[in-house]
Amino acid sequence: MSTRPRILNIAHRGARSLAPENTLAAARKAFHIGADLWECDVTLTSDGVPVILHDDNLKRTSNAASVYPNRKPWKVQSFSLEELKRLDFGSWFITTDPFKQIKLGNIQPDELQKFVGEPILTLEEALSFTRENDWQINVEIKDLQGTPGDATVVEKVLACVQNLQMEERVWLSSFNHLYISKIKKLVPAIRTGALVEWLDLNPLARLHQTGAQSYNPGIRLANPRVVRSIREQGFDVFVWTVNKEASMRKLIKAGVSGIFTDFPQVLKSVLDSYSH
Ligand code: G3P
Ligand code: MG
Repeated sequence: MSTRPRILNIAHRGARSLAPENTLAAARKAFHIGADLWECDVTLTSDGVPVILHDDNLKRTSNAASVYPNRKPWKVQSFSLEELKRLDFGSWFITTDPFKQIKLGNIQPDELQKFVGEPILTLEEALSFTRENDWQINVEIKDLQGTPGDATVVEKVLACVQNLQMEERVWLSSFNHLYISKIKKLVPAIRTGALVEWLDLNPLARLHQTGAQSYNPGIRLANPRVVRSIREQGFDVFVWTVNKEASMRKLIKAGVSGIFTDFPQVLKSVLDSYSH
């Protein structure tokens, strides 16, 4: 009998193929599927509250354009938490069906109504849900360079994690590696990941420089040679965003430590298939 590979199934923005991304509905789905952790993106409101959102504006994943028609381009950093609380972050998913899962029948019609009115999630709520379920989370700190939040976002995220005593349940990651170095300096116990969009000539130097435990490359950068050389030095490699079964199998063979996917349900069955 072959054994199940020890690879983390990381639900990207929650189970984003089955529920509106970065909401509690998506986190719940990922949890019930059996993902090992969920990833979410964090940014700051105008009043400095860490909230969960991928884009720097609200247009794609909420009804901000109809509720606040005069606030174009709906930059999240120009809205207070109270204003964001009035928005619906679920209905867009029903009308857009970004992964065609409704059309394919993988989401039942009676489930859809539950997404209407899905609220913005604060980081505190996201962490609390994770802790209540004895689960783990990867919080990606979006790069706020050039905004007033740049100087404070790391401290605010860390305060949230520490207030809830969740240091051991959290991975923090960012494309902004100055944020990673800062986290390492302020709270060295928290695990961190350096996200990369372009391959470094020397990924290990990057890891030593930032103090990160994991190298998180985009899928096209994750060739087996690079993966092996990083893993051999005791670091983790988490690859994003992997949605096809064949790619998942290739990466498993290459020895990655974790895979971010919009389809944790697919990765779950791929990983389970190795135990037969
Ligand atoms: O952390 C992996 C992945 O989330 C990075 O890209 O743009 O989906 O946040 P993005
Ligand atoms: Mg992300």
